[in-house]
Amino acid sequence: MHLPDYKEARTRDHRDYQRISYEVDSAVQNKYKGKTFFIKTYGCQMNEHDSENIEAFLSYLGFSKVDNYLKADLVWLNTCSIRENAHNKAFGMLGRLKHLKNEKKDLLIGLSGCMAQEVSVVETIMRDYPFVNFVVGTHNLHQLPSIIDKAIVENQQQIEVFSREGDLIEGLPVVRANSYKAYVNIIYGCDKFCTYCIVPYTRGRERSRAKEDILKEIDELIQDGYKEVTLLGQNVNAYGKDLYENYHLGDLLEEIALKNIPRIRFMTSHPWDFNDRMIEVIAKYPNIMPSVHLPVQSGSSRILKLMGRRYTRESYLELFHKIKDTIPGVSISTDIIVGFPGETEEDFQETLSLVHECQYDNAFTFIFSTREGTPACKLPDNVSLEEKEERLHRLNEVVNTYFLENNKKLEGQVLKVMVEGVSDKKDMYYGYSETNKLINFSSSQEVKPGDIIDVLITSAKTWSLDGKVE
Ligand code: 5AD
Ligand code: SF4
Repeated sequence: MHLPDYKEARTRDHRDYQRISYEVDSAVQNKYKGKTFFIKTYGCQMNEHDSENIEAFLSYLGFSKVDNYLKADLVWLNTCSIRENAHNKAFGMLGRLKHLKNEKKDLLIGLSGCMAQEVSVVETIMRDYPFVNFVVGTHNLHQLPSIIDKAIVENQQQIEVFSREGDLIEGLPVVRANSYKAYVNIIYGCDKFCTYCIVPYTRGRERSRAKEDILKEIDELIQDGYKEVTLLGQNVNAYGKDLYENYHLGDLLEEIALKNIPRIRFMTSHPWDFNDRMIEVIAKYPNIMPSVHLPVQSGSSRILKLMGRRYTRESYLELFHKIKDTIPGVSISTDIIVGFPGETEEDFQETLSLVHECQYDNAFTFIFSTREGTPACKLPDNVSLEEKEERLHRLNEVVNTYFLENNKKLEGQVLKVMVEGVSDKKDMYYGYSETNKLINFSSSQEVKPGDIIDVLITSAKTWSLDGKVE
């Protein structure tokens, strides 16, 4: 048994880590043939991609996938800790599974993801949720087949969570959710330690994958007919810093852009590491999508300092305008937190005025959520929840106005759309533009997922656009 430990998770040193190739344990191949699984994924794209690895591990063990947890022999929760409501959702699901297990004694229940790295969560599971069969941390997901096997063979709860990153494991098996767009990890972890954020504790320090490994994975995806890759990391802009003297995200993006892949995306970018070279490269290559997610978090320099964000309102705006002015047609989205401890009405007004200046194409807005073990949870907070909810409401009204205004400018234009599938609306398809706008459209011609086609935009809504293929 290995339990999480925050002291260790906080450690940042320069131990060398090795790139190790994943080795399959052939003794467990197809050992559980005939059994079924269901994975419930919470949170970010990183988790979605981890679930693609989990699916491959389970398939190797012989499990087959079902589309409803009630039908599964194994229910897997791949969890998120970013805010309290993510926690509550996972614990709510565990509550439902407890009832299910009363009826179905052989049901297997597993948990992985960021919640598995949290000391208090693991303590709660050991104390109150003895029916959970195994908990696997984010740093040792590759051990999953043997952990499941052990949990079944020994019929005993297995908790295997490493708080320090081990080596970087290459060649993990993967069952991708799509056949035309794929996630590719380029860097793991985060060293920024924003004072509100749990991620540096749950995902460890920044570790870049070697460029050769990333480029090889992308070459294979291209060979397999993939049209879009999204480069993933908690902070992709830090790519290469831990590994190379002089090779960073701009250089990696350029090498990928020279390959024959129509769409390249990347996320998430911390404004701190966004350099001119990156901006130039994005502007230069048409297959790097002009869509940048640039979380601001607050428009008040005072709050940004308390958040440990390492930039001011002014330096953020300077970067924002440089990106807008250099990359033709770029869309910029953001994340904003309201109600950070001690945020005054004046601080909040600065956030609103920044939104008026930036007129974002999309924004994810949140109320500050206390995460145990982070510095912000010790800050005095005299803003009531009611006030925070009110601020969120006022902020959402403003951001929504700009989504619609920006979308309206696209009416009458022809946009390149990558088809995703058939929309909920009858006789309509849906897909995403280069700037990542959701487009619902009609087409008299047959189209299929992964096709990139021209769509005439006929009308704009706040969160989507309608169009037609002529
Ligand atoms: N409370 C509220 N929002 C948070 N985020 C991260 N941590 C917290 C927290 N404790 C938001 C940030 C980040 C996004 C992924 O989640 O805006 O950019
Ligand atoms: Fe969290 Fe800040 Fe790292 Fe983003 S950059 S994952 S907000 S610590």
